[in-house]
Amino acid sequence: AAAQGDGGLPKLAVKSKYRVCFNQSEMNSTWRKAQTKSMQDEAKRLGWTLIFTNANGSVEQQIADVRSCIAQRVDAIFLPPREEKPLTPVVLEAKRAGIPLFVIDRTVDEEAVKAGRDYVTFIGSDFYAEGRRAAEWLVKTTGGKAKVIELLGSPGSTPAIDRANGFHDYIKKYPGIQVIAAQTAQFTREEGFNVMKRLIRSYPTATAVYAHNDEMALGAITAAREAGFTPGTDITFVSIDGQRSALEAIILGKLGATVECSPNFGPKAFQTLKDYAAGKKIPARIINDDRFFDLSNALKSLSSAF
Ligand code: AHR
Repeated sequence: AAAQGDGGLPKLAVKSKYRVCFNQSEMNSTWRKAQTKSMQDEAKRLGWTLIFTNANGSVEQQIADVRSCIAQRVDAIFLPPREEKPLTPVVLEAKRAGIPLFVIDRTVDEEAVKAGRDYVTFIGSDFYAEGRRAAEWLVKTTGGKAKVIELLGSPGSTPAIDRANGFHDYIKKYPGIQVIAAQTAQFTREEGFNVMKRLIRSYPTATAVYAHNDEMALGAITAAREAGFTPGTDITFVSIDGQRSALEAIILGKLGATVECSPNFGPKAFQTLKDYAAGKKIPARIINDDRFFDLSNALKSLSSAF
């Protein structure tokens, strides 16, 4: 844990209102929209000025957006880095400019920069644990026997890397669980549909799909149905995020389960900034306490899903 001033961390004064940047990576999914809304709603509630940028899926644009916030001398920056390595240098640029930066949702290259020294902290979900939890459920549900199609998130992103590793590490002990195909579907519903449409033709013996997020799973469910399969019966689907439409798919029996990855960062992120300004020690990692949804709790969780 570290407080302002420790290890050269930028100082932040106590104020009633702050002017902060939120440099969103893209806005092409329910999850991203919910994350943005959470940040905007909380800024509004506190009466803070939130400068919002949308990099539209481009790491170059996200880098430029952070630089523009540094140039505007904002009080602090909240950064959900689209990819780990490319966004690392601007973290150091913010530090050099004396602007506290909070990495949220996805990590930066932790070999190159350190929380509590170069940026304040990381706030987000444990993507590796998410992959393990999805695998654990699949093993239990299938009795340890499945031919799996894995739909990967966008290449180079930490959720894609960690969710694959968590899942694969867990299934090592279960030789009956075989990943027969793995391909990126870019975390989008459209690509989930397109990729699944092709893969199910080449791998008609697949009995399960592990999608790194709900959007891809929902696209893949449609593709499987159009290809003549019955999702939930012929093919078991498991994914990550826990968005409302995924819980609805669970209730309808199409999706088996989803591991929550909460996009509700606003209250936690801004409270952490306030604590930091107040001189409190901030842990290097603040990990979200995520839920797990299957048929046993999907209906009662609908109202609290995004
Ligand atoms: O970084 C969060 C992950 O990225 C979410 O699971 C996913 O939906 C988003 O694209």
